[in-house]
Amino acid sequence: MTNVTRLCTTKALLTVNGQYPGPPVVAREGDRVVIKVTNNVKNNISIHWHGIRQLRSGWADGPAYVTQCPIQTGQSYVYKFIVKRQRGTLWWHAHISWLRASIHGPIIIYPKKNASYPFPRPHQEVPIVFGEWWNADTETVINQAMQSGAQANVSDAYTINGLPGLMYNCSTNDTFRLKVNPGKTYLLRIVNAALNSDLFFAIANHTLTVVEADAVYVKPFQTNVILITPGQTTNVLLTAMSQPPNATFLMLAGPFATGTAAFDNSTSAGILEYVTSNATAVNSSSSSLPMMKPTLPAPNDTSFAANFSQKMRSLGNPKFPAAAVPQKMDKQFLFTSNGVYNTTFPDNPPFPFNYTGTPPNNTQTLNDTRVEVLPFNTSVQLVLQDTSIATFESHPLHLHGFNFFIVGQGMGNYNASTDPSNFNLVDPPERNTVGVPSGGWVALRFLADNPGVWFMHCHLELHTSWGLKMAWVVLNGNGGRSQSLLPPPKDLPPC
Ligand code: C2O
Repeated sequence: MTNVTRLCTTKALLTVNGQYPGPPVVAREGDRVVIKVTNNVKNNISIHWHGIRQLRSGWADGPAYVTQCPIQTGQSYVYKFIVKRQRGTLWWHAHISWLRASIHGPIIIYPKKNASYPFPRPHQEVPIVFGEWWNADTETVINQAMQSGAQANVSDAYTINGLPGLMYNCSTNDTFRLKVNPGKTYLLRIVNAALNSDLFFAIANHTLTVVEADAVYVKPFQTNVILITPGQTTNVLLTAMSQPPNATFLMLAGPFATGTAAFDNSTSAGILEYVTSNATAVNSSSSSLPMMKPTLPAPNDTSFAANFSQKMRSLGNPKFPAAAVPQKMDKQFLFTSNGVYNTTFPDNPPFPFNYTGTPPNNTQTLNDTRVEVLPFNTSVQLVLQDTSIATFESHPLHLHGFNFFIVGQGMGNYNASTDPSNFNLVDPPERNTVGVPSGGWVALRFLADNPGVWFMHCHLELHTSWGLKMAWVVLNGNGGRSQSLLPPPKDLPPC
């Protein structure tokens, strides 16, 4: 536990190596990564390497009670995996209860030695991790969330690299500052580690060039604002203009929130500050200069969200998904709150129904999906449909162990006979987390080429707790070792 003070409130936080947010894990594509996690606190712990493909090494994936039992007090577990065919930014976080609130940090994967970026080499690279700060302790927050039904718990501040920023009480000194030299280009490695909120991010008077998402390069595009869901990572290039030293600009991270659940509509602010080359010290007068403020979209701007996700395109022509015609499983998967069903209403609602119209009277179901088994190398096409049963709300769905291609998306009800003809099989983005649009759908494809048990869930922590989750069991292939999950390591924590 480490005492941390924000918003004039001091609390003991669960941290890794005493740091909040946690230290970066830095690797090169192709590296074998070995990380020993020792639990020195009272809580049970497990760590997930979010977005790492974990090819054949599912024992190192980390979700508690899915691929391992948690590491108990005083115990250690060594996570071992190879970073294969991935480079960019990912992140790590605790994967038990809501402990990722303070236990998280970036994973920085450089290209192989002698390989270069598909864009000019940046002058400097800067991790930017968004989070949330709660004045109450995490246990209290979880208990409230679990009791209060539909009422979401609201954090007290958003943070940029652990700092709320000058728009909050007591936080002028707790403001992230990014110092830049005129004319230089910076690679911002942005992670949304917030528990329960999609975020917009912008820097006044500066254009951002998106070059990578979820550790996959994308066709570069320029934007004034990015949108990032919990779980996603986005690399952007920022070119510092010609500005006098001490020129300052505000950067803001504020919520994109649809639906009726309560949310924090406050904004975290940081400062982009120009310094002459070689200058390191901050001129304290700079913060008194008037600062340009960027404009963020309205918190419910779903058309910004739709347009922004359309701009994400993969660099090349991926072989999958175009080549693979997925076998039709024709199954309805259902997510229900807590998997709880009410025996006084034993009938299933009629499926399919008009998901984005009036919901059926009976929305209780006996058939919620918990585990789905896939033979090795199955081509999966998955359509995620948002419904209006509780409220229209966008959900950042995350799949462990794979990247998927986002081949289609739209508003309203998915139409299986007409929508597939508009699928993008040429340059669909490849990601591990997708924002399922409020009142709409996304179509994903992935190749089940990684044997193991793979969690899939909404990355809004509240919704994971409520039951928006399932697991895929991908069976070993017949091709021997290279198509089989490795044997469990000897130190795999017992329950
Ligand atoms: Cu980052 Cu299962 O999550």
